[in-house]
Amino acid sequence: MTAMTADHTAFARNQWYVAAWSSEVGRELLGRTVLGEPLALYRTQAGEPVVLADRCVHRRYPLSASGLDGDRVVCGYHGFTYDTTGTCVYVPGQKRVPRTARVSSYPVAEVDAMVWVWIGDPELADADVIPRAPHLAEDGWVTVRGMEPIDADYGLLVDNLMDLSHETYLHGGYIGTPEVAETPITTEVDEAAGIVRVSRHMADAECPPFYARSTGIEGRIQRLQDIEYHAPCLYLLHSRISPSGADSPVFRTEITYAITPSAPGKVYDFWAVSRNFAVDDHEVTVFLRDFNHTVVMQDVDALNLLQRSLNTEPAGYQELSINIDTGGLAARRILAKLAAG
Ligand code: FES
Ligand SMILES: [Fe+2]
Repeated sequence: MTAMTADHTAFARNQWYVAAWSSEVGRELLGRTVLGEPLALYRTQAGEPVVLADRCVHRRYPLSASGLDGDRVVCGYHGFTYDTTGTCVYVPGQKRVPRTARVSSYPVAEVDAMVWVWIGDPELADADVIPRAPHLAEDGWVTVRGMEPIDADYGLLVDNLMDLSHETYLHGGYIGTPEVAETPITTEVDEAAGIVRVSRHMADAECPPFYARSTGIEGRIQRLQDIEYHAPCLYLLHSRISPSGADSPVFRTEITYAITPSAPGKVYDFWAVSRNFAVDDHEVTVFLRDFNHTVVMQDVDALNLLQRSLNTEPAGYQELSINIDTGGLAARRILAKLAAG
């Protein structure tokens, strides 16, 4: 049994987080909040992503509701103008720009079609340690994606993704079949690297519509689910499907999540489904996009409900954990360690 207080899961600040899909960041300002910090994102004319604090130094108007003049942000209220480093280069009505007129600019890296931001100590930001999801950008793969904000502690989303036995119940008739909940898992934890792996291999399982309609397989399947969670933000589910009793063909689907704490009790759920089969079949693309969105919304609704219910619990309430929670509990330990620095 593990006690968990009604407090939110602590934030690990010196870490990279996905602030947006690359496709969301362009020549219009985008507002996001990461680890409680309001951010304004945009792209320079040369295509480089920029992340500035989303509060004008003058009267704190959100820069994300402002406009661009070339590579500069012009505050939409009185025109304070900032360069890509956050330095104010123009104020209205006077020649002299106050020395302290600057907003924070955050280290940013664009990797695998995601825009990653570093909220902690900028001296420690090293883009080389960002975990990879190459299928999101590589040729030969087609990806459908989206982002849903959830009013829940980000730890609840980590829990949700680390244990897929909920597919049978919460997503029954979509991606869940009885075999998911019935098949035991194996869990491997690399505490030093901050990686948790959870695998569930089903030799002979019912084929849920998600895979029946995308792969065209009729009948039962071998279904392999291998989760690789790179705490705190990146979650990869390597899925391999083949007809039951046959070694081929193998249909690979990569399901990616970026779990980005927005504020206490709020999380961004970035989701993507990538496949390297039927890549030219637009119908499959539309099906996977709509179908997976429905599945994600089942989780979103459940986590919104769960958080509302937890909010009414007295502090220090008890949970009862079982085997299926091994990966989730390991993830909590790693997150606590990362947050403690
Ligand atoms: S609030 Fe931005 S210029 Fe006044
Ligand atoms: Fe789910």
